[in-house]
Amino acid sequence: MDSKKLKEDLARDFNHIWHPATQMKDHETEPPLLIDKGEGVYLIDRKGNRYLDGISSWWVNIFGHNHPRLNAAVTRQLQEIAHVMFAGVTHQPAIDLAEKLVRNTPPNLNRVFFSDNGSTSIEIALKMSAQYWLEVGKPERKKFVHLKGAYHGETLGALSVCGIDLFRTKFQNILIDNIEVPGPDCDRCPYGLVPETCAAECFEPMEQILNENSDKVAGAIVEPLIQGAAGMKMYSSVYLRRLTDTCKVLDIHTIFDEVAVGFGRTGALFVCQEYGFEPTFLCLSKGLTSGYLPLAATMTEDKIYQAFYDEYDTFKLFLHSHSYTANPLACACANETLDMLTEDNFFVYLKEKSNWLKEGGKRLEMLEHCGEYRQIGMIGRVELMENKEKKTPYPFEKRLGYRIYLEGLKRGVLLRPLGNVIYFMPPLIISKSEIEFMTNTAYDCIHDILK
Ligand SMILES: Cc1ncc(COP(=O)(O)O)c(C=O)c1O
Repeated sequence: MDSKKLKEDLARDFNHIWHPATQMKDHETEPPLLIDKGEGVYLIDRKGNRYLDGISSWWVNIFGHNHPRLNAAVTRQLQEIAHVMFAGVTHQPAIDLAEKLVRNTPPNLNRVFFSDNGSTSIEIALKMSAQYWLEVGKPERKKFVHLKGAYHGETLGALSVCGIDLFRTKFQNILIDNIEVPGPDCDRCPYGLVPETCAAECFEPMEQILNENSDKVAGAIVEPLIQGAAGMKMYSSVYLRRLTDTCKVLDIHTIFDEVAVGFGRTGALFVCQEYGFEPTFLCLSKGLTSGYLPLAATMTEDKIYQAFYDEYDTFKLFLHSHSYTANPLACACANETLDMLTEDNFFVYLKEKSNWLKEGGKRLEMLEHCGEYRQIGMIGRVELMENKEKKTPYPFEKRLGYRIYLEGLKRGVLLRPLGNVIYFMPPLIISKSEIEFMTNTAYDCIHDILK
C-alpha cells in the first residue's frame, strides 16, 4: 500500500467532494474510509483493512459485494447495451423484470413504473395518486397522511411525508402541507401494551384523522412493520391490517414504502405479500438490484392505470420521467437478484440465520445501558439508554452513535447507529460466524464506550 498516494487521494476527496448526511468538518480529523474492494459481507479499504458491512451499505446489499452471479449478469448485459431511453423504447431486461415483480407481489399490483432511487419511487406514488383523483373529478383529494417518525426519502415531495424533524425542519417552509399522525411507539407504548399481543390501540388517532378528512385525503403512506430511519422502530402487522381495512372503506389509497424492508429483510420477499395486504401502491428500490445499481419501481393496480389511459388529446398521460429510467444494466441485475431470492429455498435458510442473529443480538440486553433487543427477520436493533429502568434516552450531543461507529471501524465492523439505536442489517448471505463476529464486536464497542 502506497501511504503517500492514500493521503493524497483523501486530500483530493476533501478538496472537492461534499458527502451525504455528513458534517464535512468531521473529515478534518476523521477522513472517510477509502474503499477499494468488496468481498462477500466485507468491505476492504486502501490499507487492506476489512470491515464487515453490518448495515449492507445503507440497507441495499442483499447478496454481498462482488457476487459472481450478479457480476456476470451485469457483464452479460454490458455486452449488449448499457443504456437507452425508456419513452418509446423498451428492452428485454425491463420486460422480464416487470413480469417477475408482478408475479411476486400481491395480485392487485400489475403495473410497474420504473425509476432510479427510493425517494423517486415515492414521488411517483404521490404524484400518481394525486393525479388519479384529479382525473376522476375529485381534485380536492390531495393531502397525504403519514406517521410521526416516517422516512420516505429526502427529495421535497418525499420530505413532505417525512415525520422526523431532523430531516424536515430546515426545509419546512418549502414543503407541501400534509397531515402527520402519531403512530405506533412500541418502545414506549403510551397504552402500556406489547406489540406481540396488542390490538394496535395506537391506530385510534389515525382512524379518527382518516374519518374526519376522507374528503381531502388522497392516500396514506407507511413503512410497513419497521420505521427505518426513525431508529428501526418495529410495530405490529395489526396496525397495517387496521390501516388497509379503514382506507378501503373510505376509498383512500394506501402507499406501502418497502424501499428498505423489501427483498427479504423481514424474512419474506415483501411484507405486503407475506401478510396478504393489497396496497394501492408499492414502492421498491435498494435491494432490488442487491445494492449494485440504482433502480426503483412503483407498482400499482389497474384501477389507477385506467384513469390515465385515454386518447392523447385528453392529456391524461402520466408526465414523469428520469433519464436513467429502467436502466438495462440495473434491470438485468434486478432479474438475477429476484431469481436468487426465489430459488433454492432461500427463505428457509434465512429463517435459520435470523435465529442466529437473535441469539447474538439478545446478548446486548445484558449490557447496563441497552434496552430490549428487538428483531424482525434479518433486522435487529437495540436502543442505548442513560437509565434503562426509566428508559431515559442519551442526550443527542453525546454523539454516542458516532463514537460507536468509529470504535466499530477500529475492530473491523461497519455499524452506523441511528442516534442512540444500534442496529444490524447485514447482507442476507452472512454466515453464522460472521453474525457472531458482528454482534460480539457491537457488544464490546458499546461496553467500552459506555464504561
Ligand atoms: C423507507 C425508505 N423509503 C425511501 C427511502 C429513500 O431511498 P433513496 O435513498 O434511494 O432515495 C429510504 C432510504 O433510506 C427508505 O428507508
